[in-house]
Amino acid sequence: MDKFIVHQSKLSGSIEVSGSKNAALPIMAATILTDGDCIIHNIPDLMDIRTMMGILEVLGKKITFKKSTLVIKAKRNKSFVAPYNLVRTMRASFCCLGPLLAKRKKAKVALPGGCIIGPRPVDLHMKGLGELGTDIVIENGYCRAKTKGLKGAHIYLGSAFGSSVLATANILMAAVLARGETIIEYAACEPEIECLALFLKEMGADIVGEGTPMLRIRGREQIGGCEFKIIPDRIEAGTFIAVSLATKSTIQIRGANPYHLTSALEVAKKVGAKVIIDRNLAITIKPERRLSPVNITTLAYPGFPTDLQAQFMACLCLAKGISLVTEKIYPERFMHIAELNRMGASIQRNGPYAIIEGKEKLHGAEIMASDLRASAALVIAGLAAEGKTEILRVYHIDRGYDKIEYKLKKLGAKIERRKQ
Ligand code: EPZ
Repeated sequence: MDKFIVHQSKLSGSIEVSGSKNAALPIMAATILTDGDCIIHNIPDLMDIRTMMGILEVLGKKITFKKSTLVIKAKRNKSFVAPYNLVRTMRASFCCLGPLLAKRKKAKVALPGGCIIGPRPVDLHMKGLGELGTDIVIENGYCRAKTKGLKGAHIYLGSAFGSSVLATANILMAAVLARGETIIEYAACEPEIECLALFLKEMGADIVGEGTPMLRIRGREQIGGCEFKIIPDRIEAGTFIAVSLATKSTIQIRGANPYHLTSALEVAKKVGAKVIIDRNLAITIKPERRLSPVNITTLAYPGFPTDLQAQFMACLCLAKGISLVTEKIYPERFMHIAELNRMGASIQRNGPYAIIEGKEKLHGAEIMASDLRASAALVIAGLAAEGKTEILRVYHIDRGYDKIEYKLKKLGAKIERRKQ
């Protein structure tokens, strides 16, 4: 197991964003829908991507991954079982369910395990696939499903917490090969779902409404392979925005899509940074004074992303005044609070609310990473804090950030990876 040693740093320069993990994972699952070859560019080199490659290999794909390009081809093996030893480490593997049912008419996918960010039910996935004509049950830790042939349906996919990204992905992928027309109401509008729909269309699927809450899919008998480029990772880009704010460093972020980051850029402006977007869409963040406090509520896209809540909370620990963060997607996603408080922050949690009283400084401490985005928040706090910060269990960060310490070092960050 590795740890990071981080020292307070003043950063400057330009940083390049990798391809989006959360767009790449469902798109990799979507290749199950075809026997054709798929070539997918701009894939980040992450543990989650390697896990999905392992699952697809078990499910009968032959994969090569070189220089951010995946080539996925079909082999003879037509397994329909995604085993627990692979699925347990990554919830996104559950979105093999829809494509397996559509293409192979049956699926047995291990239920993803408990998650540090709170309960993560799968009822919407089950409801949607049920309405497309699937017999679906949960038995012995597996979701078992079979169908005589999927049939289009009008499906409402809202939950008490709004839309669901991966449930939309699962139902959309299944509907592509269902007989007749499917309408998904309350579909997730996240750019990653829009990207998935564009990939499916490239494969020959008939989809209208990507990027909106209403998707209309006319089922096809089959679809083929294609060549496609994944969108940039908006959460990685948003993390670099938070790095800039917390360390009061001017940073240019290249290769991101600023239109996917509107809510985070609004917060950057509100806390007092200058945001400049140039002709090539490079984003420059210039924090010019001590940060102002701000209230943030996480919501489904285009609201402020839950996946940036922890990183921005690390910044608000240094703001001049009191900020309120409300977590509406995962009300338990606050594991970083205790660790930030160990660094001298003053954060009180009450249910889905966190009240942050900004301090002039944070100080280094030994802290523990708990999940992917919380780990990023601790790195940010470590770069801003006086003294030395030791972050244990950084394997979480390797699940979702491509070469993070190399990228940060190029900006002048004092960060080292050591064996724990
Ligand atoms: C995706 O997870 C992302 N994962 C998560 O990113 C992200 O935090 C989340 O969307 C929200 O944006 C991937 O794309 C691989 P949801 P997903 O279903 O799809 C409730 C990261 O750090 N819900 O959109 O699993 C659920 O409890 C990760 O990269 C149900 O009630 O999340 C939550 O409150 C972590 N029933 C809300 O919907 C269901 O059947 C949104 O969750 C499904 C979800």
